[in-house]
Amino acid sequence: MQLGSIDTIVAEIAEETRTHTHRGKVADYIPPLACVPDSKFGIAVVLHDGSVHTAGDAEEPFSIQSISKVFALTLALGAVGDQLWRRVGREPSGTAFNSIVQLETEHGIPRNPFINAGAIVVCDVLLGRLQPREAIGQMLRFVRTVAGDETIAIDEAVARAEQDTGFRNMALANYMRAFGNVHAPVELVLGTYFHFCALSMSCRQLALAGRYLMDDGRADGHSVISARRARRINALMMSCGHYDNSGDFAYRIGLPGKSGVGGGILAVAPGIASIAVWSPGLNPSGNSHLGQLALERLVHRTGWSVF
Ligand code: DON
Repeated sequence: MQLGSIDTIVAEIAEETRTHTHRGKVADYIPPLACVPDSKFGIAVVLHDGSVHTAGDAEEPFSIQSISKVFALTLALGAVGDQLWRRVGREPSGTAFNSIVQLETEHGIPRNPFINAGAIVVCDVLLGRLQPREAIGQMLRFVRTVAGDETIAIDEAVARAEQDTGFRNMALANYMRAFGNVHAPVELVLGTYFHFCALSMSCRQLALAGRYLMDDGRADGHSVISARRARRINALMMSCGHYDNSGDFAYRIGLPGKSGVGGGILAVAPGIASIAVWSPGLNPSGNSHLGQLALERLVHRTGWSVF
C-alpha cells in the first residue's frame, strides 16, 4: 500500500464519521465517562514500517477501559504462563461484559479474560506476586514501554468513580471469591482492576502500544513476548474481544480487536498494522458504534481482514 493512500483513507473515514447522525449511546454508569461528547472521533494506524497515520481526535486521551484487559492478560501470562488457564477459560461467553450468570454453573471460572469476571481473576493472579501499587506500577511501565511514550497516565477520577459505582464488579469478585477463584481481598483486587480500566490513552498511544500484537511479539525491534503468545492473544481478541458482539465483529471486520466502554477499540492486522479508533457512543453490547463502522470501512478499503 502507498503511504499516501493510507493517509487518504484515514482522513476520509474521519470525515465520513464526523457527520454521522446515529452515533450510539455514551456510557453513563461510570459518571466521568458520561461527560464525554459523542461528537469525538479519532483514528490512528501504525504500519509495520513504524509510520503513524492519524485523523480526527487521534491525539486526545480517553479512558481505555476494557482494552486494558489485553495488557493485563499479557502481564499475567508473563507472570504465571499457561497456569493462568486453570482459573479462566478461553471461550466466548455470548453474554454481556458484566454478566454473572455463567459463574454459578461453571464453578466460578470465567469464560475468558476479556469479560469483567475474567479480568478480575487476571488481576488476582497478578496480586499473587505483587502488591496492588506494584501491579499498577507494572501496568503503567508496560504500556509506556510498548507505546514508547512516558506521558501515559491513569485518570484517578475515573478510578475513584468506578470504585464508587462498581457494584456489579463487587458482586462478581465476591462471588468468585466464594468459589475460591479470587484469593486476595476483594477490595484490593478491584482497586487494581479499576486502575487498569482508568488508563487514559490517545488513539496514537494505543495503536503504538498494540505493535507487539501486530509484529509477533516485537515492538520497535525489541521482543516483548514470544510470537506464539502474541498470536494466541490475537486469537482470544478475535473470539472474545467484543463480548456477545464478537461474532459480528469477526464477520464484519475480520481482525482481532478489543473494545472498551470509553468508546475505544484496538484492532490488529497481523504483520500489517496496529489500529486504534475512538468514538464514545456505544452499541447495545457496549462497543463503539462508529468505531466499528470505521474499522469496517478501513478493512473494506485496505483488504486487511485476516480471512
Ligand atoms: O468494569 C467495568 O464495567 C468497566 N471498567 C469496563 C467495562 C468495559 O469497558 C466493557 N467494554 N466494552
